Amino acid sequence: MNSLHIAIVSGASRQGRQSHKVAQHLFSLLQQEEAIEVNLIDVSSADIPHYQDGDLRSLEVQEKHAAFSKQLKEADCIILVSPEYNGGMSGSLKNFLDHFRPEYDRTVFGLASVSSGSMGGLNAMQQMVAFVSYVGGFLSNSRLLVSDISRGFDESNAVIDARLEKNAKRFAEDVVWLGRAVKAKKLEEIKG
Ligand SMILES: Cc1cc2nc3c(=O)[nH]c(=O)nc-3n(C[C@H](O)[C@H](O)[C@H](O)COP(=O)(O)O)c2cc1C
Repeated sequence: MNSLHIAIVSGASRQGRQSHKVAQHLFSLLQQEEAIEVNLIDVSSADIPHYQDGDLRSLEVQEKHAAFSKQLKEADCIILVSPEYNGGMSGSLKNFLDHFRPEYDRTVFGLASVSSGSMGGLNAMQQMVAFVSYVGGFLSNSRLLVSDISRGFDESNAVIDARLEKNAKRFAEDVVWLGRAVKAKKLEEIKG
């Protein structure tokens, strides 16, 4: 059986970020599944500078760009995890995403937003939904909105919020379900 490739993009770059714990939790959930290859792209260590047109990028950035492009192109599903900052998705995440475009076409997206308050980063979520729709991705049916993130994990970063645990599991299952369906359709088309 062909493995399903999933790339998780963790969108916070500040020290002390909490949303990265959600990205890590999704990573470990998916890693436990059979026939799934998952990798975690961390915008904080990706070190991709502010957007610049291709040929104006330094050689170093062009190399990094090519490596991330390959990862995103190979991904059957892309999961975006964003904190909510000032009523939207994080600027670091948007900057990272703007460096790519054809990589997103007909790719399944799962969206997770995180906030310290009670709204689960709904504004960030809405921006991500608009982004996916604009770039021609397929949106998974369930979205993960994580509120009160400070209550989500213990000191060893294990989930302690039962609702988060349940929602994250269902979210991951739904992304995988759609990812497999779309991948099967693409393989069918290739075989003719
Ligand atoms: C610059 C900044 C702006 C923020 N703006 C919002 C906001 O608009 N709405 C909200 O619910 N939380 C907001 N928060 C709180 C974050 O949701 C909170 O820090 C949460 O832990 C997710 O971000 P993190 O991954 O950086 O920790 C903001 C935090 C920062 C640092």
